[in-house]
Parts: sequence; C-alpha cells; structure tokens
Amino acid sequence: MPRRTALLLILPALLAARPLHDDPARTTKDGVYTAAQAAEGEVLWREVCQSCHLPGALVTPATTTKWFGRPLADLYGYVRREMPQLDPGSLTEDEYLVAVAYLLKQFRMPAGTTPLSADATALAAIRIDSLPSASRTGSRR
Ligand code: HEC
Repeated sequence: MPRRTALLLILPALLAARPLHDDPARTTKDGVYTAAQAAEGEVLWREVCQSCHLPGALVTPATTTKWFGRPLADLYGYVRREMPQLDPGSLTEDEYLVAVAYLLKQFRMPAGTTPLSADATALAAIRIDSLPSASRTGSRR
C-alpha cells in the first residue's frame, strides 16, 4: 500500500484519539481565585513579601514572559519552595495560596467565584495567560 494512502487511513483515527475534553482550556483569565483570597493575600504580602517585592514590582515583562503559558502549578510550586527568600517554606499552604491569588491580581487577572485550591491536578490544569495589556505596554503611560 502506498505510504500516503496509509497515512490517510490512520489520520481519522489519530484525530478521533485526541482528548477533546482534556484541553487545558482554563487560563488565569477565567477567574481562578476569589476577591476574598486576593484581599487576604494583600495583607500577607504587605507583612511577608513587600520588604523585597513592593506590590506590582513583579509585574515586569521579564517576570510575565518567564511564566507565560506555563501551568499555574509551576508558579505556585516556585513560590512555595523558594519564597520568602530568607525563610522558604515558612508559610502555611493557605498563605501561599492567597499570596499567589494576590500575585494574579497584580498581574491584572480577574477574580471569580471559585477559590484557588492547592490541589496539584487543579493547579496543573490552569495555564498562565499574558497580561491583558501586555501588548500595549510602552505605548501608554
Ligand atoms: C528577602 C527578600 C524576599 C522576600 C521577603 C520575598 N522574595 Fe520573592 N524573590 C526574591 C528574590 C531575590 C527573587 C529572585 C530570585 C531568583 O531570580 O533566583 C524572588 C523571586 C520571586 C518570584 C519570581 C519572580 C520572577 O521573575 O519569576 C515570585 C513570584 C516571588 N518572588 C514571590 C514572592 C512572594 C509571594 C513572597 C512572600 C510570600 C516573596 N516573594 C518574598 C526575594 C524575596
């Protein structure tokens, strides 16, 4: 059988096998934390993170480009493992969660009705999106 024919025959099978429902369609623009979490996170941030990161200080092209497109689990895991820099791992799971919720707010991601959860599978299924205004940064000031 010619190779092209073989390919045409298996192509529908390949397309059908694609998991349509497992697409990581949820992104940080879909309201993945609540306003209450961000408010708690802001209080914590001022106490624990602000000495090194003023609110908004991480909203730079360097930081947003680095995390863009990656699962939120990566960012949460990084903060959980490495921050606060002088005492990593010193906060509770809930404190890390609200800190990340407030970080998302700083990145101008919208709040929603579902609280951010520390569940690894849930965090892995959320993709970090770009800043809403990232493409316009520089043209307005
Ligand atoms: C003592 C100073 C200090 C404190 C306090 C601190 N950080 Fe950091 N943070 C740093 C430094 C330094 C880096 C950069 C580390 C590197 O690039 O290796 C960093 C990096 C980060 C990054 C990644 C930035 C990027 O560009 O990818 C995040 C997110 C972050 N910190 C969040 C937090 C949060 C949340 C808190 C509070 C819970 C916190 N930090 C507290 C010093 C600090």
